[in-house]
Amino acid sequence: MTDAHAAARGVGVVVVAAGSGSRLGAGTPKAFVHLGGRPLVAHALDVVARVPGVTSVAVVVPPELADASGPAWAGVRLPPSAVVVAGGAERTHSVAAGLAALDDSCDVVLVHDAARCLAPVAVFERVVAAVRGGAAGVVPGVPVVDTVKVVDERGVVVATPDRGSLRAVQTPQGFRRVVLEAAHAGGGDATDDAGLVEALGHEVLVVAGDPLAHKVTTPDDLAHAERLLVGALVIPPPPEESP
Ligand code: CTP
Ligand code: MG
Repeated sequence: MTDAHAAARGVGVVVVAAGSGSRLGAGTPKAFVHLGGRPLVAHALDVVARVPGVTSVAVVVPPELADASGPAWAGVRLPPSAVVVAGGAERTHSVAAGLAALDDSCDVVLVHDAARCLAPVAVFERVVAAVRGGAAGVVPGVPVVDTVKVVDERGVVVATPDRGSLRAVQTPQGFRRVVLEAAHAGGGDATDDAGLVEALGHEVLVVAGDPLAHKVTTPDDLAHAERLLVGALVIPPPPEESP
């Protein structure tokens, strides 16, 4: 963070969409696979566009899709403040590329998986509010419903953590910009950004996530997201109660 944005009060969003989607196996990078006739990343950006306070957006995509006028981008509405940048081989590299492309208008940064394309605006708002409330890092999380076992290399159980203290975490993950920049400057690797921030010794707070922020990973997840989208479109609102 430079002096130029030390007084900034906006929210920057890095949307990471540069993965290959090997577990989905669609033959197209996952963020450009269609859901309801439009790419996953299009849905994610529609949500980001409705988040209050967002002043800068970086969309990180596979290098071969970095030209937003190309056919893969049909149906994507890029927010006016958005820039498109090429991602890297690992998610961490993609986040770092997006972070570097945000402008000076933001002091809070959210990192969001394009694959969590139905994450509601309310989750973004909760995360921003908690960062504004003083947390260095904030992640949305949901209680773990299954009992989780820790196993050794032979598959033998070595521990059963108390389920009550476990959370499955989602994105958007939010950070003070200086904190996330310092975390990425360290060059480490983690499956989420909070992991890098925790490694620096910062406290990371978990706020309520949402089942809709579930990540599209497998073909089943995509089918589930289709059903959710259709349900959202076809179920009419309940009638107003008559007085
Ligand atoms: N991602 C990215 N750059 C990478 C890897 C992942 O921007 N090098 C993004 C993905 O596009 C996705 C998010 O990070 O929105 C979460 O990653 P994941 O669900 O693992 O997506 P993929 O890596 O594309 O899927 P897979 O692991 O099955 O190949
Ligand atoms: Mg991956």
